[in-house]
Amino acid sequence: MRIKINESQELFDQAAAKVIADCIRKKPAATIGLATGHTPKGMYEALVQLYQDNQVDFSMVKVLNLDEYLGVDLNNPGTCMSYLTERFYKHVNLSKSNIHFFNSEADDYEEECRRYDRHIEMVGGIDLLILGIGYNGHLGFNEPGTKFDTTVHVEKLTDITRTANTWSFGEKDKVPTHGITLGMKNIMHAGKLMLMVNGKKKAGILHEAIYGEVTEALPASVVQLHNDLVLVVDADAAAEIDNIGK
Ligand code: F6R
Repeated sequence: MRIKINESQELFDQAAAKVIADCIRKKPAATIGLATGHTPKGMYEALVQLYQDNQVDFSMVKVLNLDEYLGVDLNNPGTCMSYLTERFYKHVNLSKSNIHFFNSEADDYEEECRRYDRHIEMVGGIDLLILGIGYNGHLGFNEPGTKFDTTVHVEKLTDITRTANTWSFGEKDKVPTHGITLGMKNIMHAGKLMLMVNGKKKAGILHEAIYGEVTEALPASVVQLHNDLVLVVDADAAAEIDNIGK
C-alpha cells in the first residue's frame, strides 16, 4: 500500500488526478473505473485542468462508471452518469464509444449486470479503479455484508448511504432505494486501486478499513488484500493513520 497524505484540498485533488494521468501516460488505452461523490469532485476538476494544459490525452482511454442508482432516468442530475458527464466527460476528449455506463432503467437488471461483467472482460479488465469510502465502509454501492465474491449486482442501499447522498437528489426520499455496482470481486480484480478519502469524519472508518480485520462487514477492508493500492488522503482523514510513504 502506498499512502499519499496531502496537507490541503488542492494538493489532495492534484495528487489523485496525477495518479490517473500517470496511468494514462503509461498506457494510453487504459480502462479506468470511476467513482462519484463529494470526495473526487476537485480531482475531476484537476484532471480537466491537466487535459486543458495538454498534460493528458483521453482519446484512447476507456472509462466505466463504478455504480449507478436504479429506477431513475439517467438524465436526472442526481445520477452518477450526470455527475461524471457534467464534471468530467463533457470537458475532455474521451470518445463517446469509450464511455461505458449502466442502464439505470433496464427492463432486466440481472441481464444488465451480466452485460456489465461481459464488458469488463471484453476490454481486458480494469487497469485503474477510483474508489471512495462510505461512512459505513462501503465501496461503490457494496454495502456492509456484501460477499467478497460478488460481481456486478444490485444492492439495496442502507439508510446511512441514502442519507449521505441526499445532496445528489435534494431530498432523502428522492434518493433511490437501490443501486447497481461493480462487485467486490470486480474491485479486487482491477490492476490498481486508488482509494480517495478526505475529511475528519472519515478518519475513524479509514483507520478501521486499513488496519482492522478484513471482513465482509466492512467492505473497504478488502483493499488491504490488493497488491497495488494507492491511498490518497488529506491530513484530516489521515489523523488516525501512520504517516508512512508520505
Ligand atoms: C460513488 C461511490 C461511493 C462513494 C462513497 C463516498 O460512486 O461509489 O462508494 O465513493 O459513498 O462518497 P462521498 O465521497 O460523497 O463521501
